[in-house]
Amino acid sequence: MKIAMVGSGYVGLVSGACFADFGHEVVCIDKDQSKIDRLHDGVMPIYEPGLAELVASNVAAGRLSFTTSLAEGIDGADAIFIAVGTPSRRGDGHADLSYVYGVAKEIGEHLANDAVVVTKSTVPVGTGDEVERILQDSGTSHKFSVVSNPEFLREGAAIGDFKRPDRIVIGAEDEFGRDIMREVYRPLFLNESPILFTGRRTSELIKYAANAFLATKITFINEMADLCEKVGANVQDVSRGIGMDNRIGSKFLHAGPGYGGSCFPKDTLALLKTAEDFDSPTRIVEAVVKANDSRKRAMGRKVIDALGGAEAARGKKVALLGLTFKPNTDDMRDSPAIAVAQTLTDAGVEVAAYDPEGMELAKPLMPEVTMVDEPYAAIAGADAIAIVTEWDVFRALDLKRIKDLAKSPVLVDLRNIYRPDDVRALGFEYSSIGRT
Ligand code: UGA
Repeated sequence: MKIAMVGSGYVGLVSGACFADFGHEVVCIDKDQSKIDRLHDGVMPIYEPGLAELVASNVAAGRLSFTTSLAEGIDGADAIFIAVGTPSRRGDGHADLSYVYGVAKEIGEHLANDAVVVTKSTVPVGTGDEVERILQDSGTSHKFSVVSNPEFLREGAAIGDFKRPDRIVIGAEDEFGRDIMREVYRPLFLNESPILFTGRRTSELIKYAANAFLATKITFINEMADLCEKVGANVQDVSRGIGMDNRIGSKFLHAGPGYGGSCFPKDTLALLKTAEDFDSPTRIVEAVVKANDSRKRAMGRKVIDALGGAEAARGKKVALLGLTFKPNTDDMRDSPAIAVAQTLTDAGVEVAAYDPEGMELAKPLMPEVTMVDEPYAAIAGADAIAIVTEWDVFRALDLKRIKDLAKSPVLVDLRNIYRPDDVRALGFEYSSIGRT
């Protein structure tokens, strides 16, 4: 089976490499010449564990190739995936579909055989209908079917998620579409990964509903954490206590500084817009978006409190450990660290930061922050240390060394990676999320 993947960003590249690894012949297409040149040289445009190796082995096996030419890439393809970005449109939060529709138009112009056109990009309900109209308007004489196949990959765990998915969702309106998609995912059928066939609009909505639900779960436990701090309860035990109920489930109940990344913030906003357009309010999602936004700055204020309040904080120094929105990625999009750093520098606090992968992308987002190349350099002389992202390297810091290096042993753990009793026994003033 031949597959064309239009868009070699995060989703396109991971999906393309994994499909090639299943034995399909895959061409990844991107307009960005320098990205394609670098991919030819084996340089990945993103940081994702295992991706460089997977790409290299499939290129070597002759199953994976790269091109900037859409016409050449889709020639002979049974399935053409659209995996381009759908960023939030400036001003109104709607998903910007101009890239998706631009690609659809180009596919229509160059289609050289019957094919299924699959939207893998996260797109609002009804986008597939519009892609179908665009292809029809192109006057192509070839048979085509437009299918929705959302992706549920998590950054940092994308390859595992692709190869062992909880489910595959396929929204198709005809047998041609369903048949080709069955072939595309046959290797996963054999793994017994459940495949759910739905209508196209339903599949488009499933993606947004899934992300909004996960964002809600996180926001719910974050608010419980705040309440725990007030009433003297422990949020980790609350998570365990409710998560053991199978109807609730234990995942995505880690309280923290608020969700970030390229998906939850953008997709919740886009869902709100769709709901507004169809006059069908989603009040819960509205509340989630608001609560999460204000939480990020509140985390900065939590660090200021640990410094003794606004007055005392001015002129003090804070070490920020972890900048990316989660570990194992260099992605800084909507990372809580941005708001934490901003709140601190606004309050006249000096900030030194370290992140294993995110500093290059973080620099322009927090110009007042000094980046250093290892955690202890940030800690030296600090009045407080704040852990913002739970990278493994921060889980086993040498606490005795930190006590000697820091000006004051004040630790604010926004990811609950340390045990309060252990850290306090060493003489630290320790605060965390939802635990007293
Ligand atoms: C998310 C979804 O988990 C994927 O299923 C989906 O495919 C993807 O968006 C997408 O739409 O492309 P991702 O953004 O990579 O994946 O990251 P997550 O692991 O879901 O984490 C998102 C944010 O929630 C992070 O800031 C993380 O720290 C936070 N989080 C997550 C918590 O604060 N608590 C939790 O229990 C879980």
